[in-house]
Amino acid sequence: ISLRRYNTFGIDKKARLFFEANRSDEVIQAISHARSLGKKLFVLGGGSNILLVQDIDALVIKINIQGIEKIEEDADFVLLKAGAGVVWHDLVTYSLASGLSGLENLSLIPGTVGAAPMQNIGAYGVEIESVFDHLDAIEIASRQTKRFYKEDCAFGYRESIFKNKWKGKYIITHVALKLWKKPRPTIDYGDIQRTLQELGNLIPSPENISKAVIGIRQRKLPDPKKIGNAGSFFKNPTVPIADFERLREKFPKIPGYASGKFVKIPAAWLIEQAGWKGKRFGNIGVHEHQPLVLVNHGNGEGSDIIALSKKIQSDIYDKFGVILEREVNLISTEQWIEP
Ligand code: EPU
Repeated sequence: ISLRRYNTFGIDKKARLFFEANRSDEVIQAISHARSLGKKLFVLGGGSNILLVQDIDALVIKINIQGIEKIEEDADFVLLKAGAGVVWHDLVTYSLASGLSGLENLSLIPGTVGAAPMQNIGAYGVEIESVFDHLDAIEIASRQTKRFYKEDCAFGYRESIFKNKWKGKYIITHVALKLWKKPRPTIDYGDIQRTLQELGNLIPSPENISKAVIGIRQRKLPDPKKIGNAGSFFKNPTVPIADFERLREKFPKIPGYASGKFVKIPAAWLIEQAGWKGKRFGNIGVHEHQPLVLVNHGNGEGSDIIALSKKIQSDIYDKFGVILEREVNLISTEQWIEP
C-alpha cells in the first residue's frame, strides 16, 4: 500500500506488509508475525515526525490503540490514561472538556499520544515531561509489558530514553498523564499573552490559552492537510555562552535564550538570515512564515527534502559556525527493528 496518507510530509513510498494494531495483544501478534516471516518491524504512529526516503521492506505496524480513561483522582490531580493511537489533540480537547489543566500549551501538535513521550513534545513553554506520570510499553524481545515512570524516561529537549538507549526496543501502548484540577497557566511565551489580548483581553484559563496557542500555530505553521510538512525540521541549536558572545559581536541582533551554561539559538532566525525563508525549489521548499519547517508542495521526494536540508545545514555552518541537528526522523533501513 502507499504510505502517502500515513505521513504528514505526504511522501509516496510503499509498504507491502501493513498491520493495524487496535489493542496491545495485536501489537504482540504483529511482532510474532514479523518474526515468523523473517521480516523487520517498523512502528508507525501519526507519521508527523518522519521523512520517508525509500519503500519499507519491513512489517509496518500502525499503532491504533484508542481510549481515554480517568484511572486515578485526588483533590488536586486526575490521572488520564490514553491509548498510544489516540490523536494527541483529541486528548488535549478531552482534558479541557474535563476541566483539567496541563495540556493547553500543547494544543494542536500533530501526531499521536504514543509518539509524544518519545521526543518529549513541547511548545510554548511546556513539554509533556511536566505532566507525564507513566507509560506502558511492550518490550519487543520478550513481548512483555513494562511500565516506565518519569524518572525512567531521561527526558530532555526533544529527547527521551526511547530515542537513545531503548531505541527500537519497546513499543509504547499507553501513556498516563497527571493533570491539574486547578488551572496552572504557563504564559511566559510572549506570543500567548499578546494573542490573549488580541482575542479580546481574555483571562488565561486553560481553554483560552488553548485558543491562543491554536491561533498562533495556525498563523505560523503550515497545515499538513494542505502542505506536506513534519513541523520543525531541525532542533534549535544550543551553544556554550562564550560561543554565543562571539557570535553576538559579529551579529548583534542574534536572539538567544540562556539555559545553564548554554544558549539556545532559534534556528529559524539563522535560516532566515541566511536567506532561505520562503524559498521554493520545484516541489519542495522552506516555509514562508516559519523557516524551520521544510515543506512538500506536492509530489516531492524524501531525497529532495534531504538534499535541501543538507544545503541549509552546511550554509548555516559556513555562515555562523553552528551545527543544525535534524529533528525529524529519517526512515531508512536503520529504523527498522529486529523483532
Ligand atoms: N524566527 C525568525 N524568523 C521566523 C520565525 C522565527 O527569526 O520566520 C525567530 C525569532 O527570533 C523567534 C524565534 O525564531 O522569536 C522563535 O520562533 P518560534 O516561537 O516560532 O519557535 P521556534 O523556536 O522556531 C520551537 C519549536 C516548535 C514550537 C515552538 C513554540 C523546536 C525545534 N521547535 O520553534 O515546535 O511549536 O518553538 O514553542 O524546538 C516542532 O517541534 O515541530 C515544533 C513546531
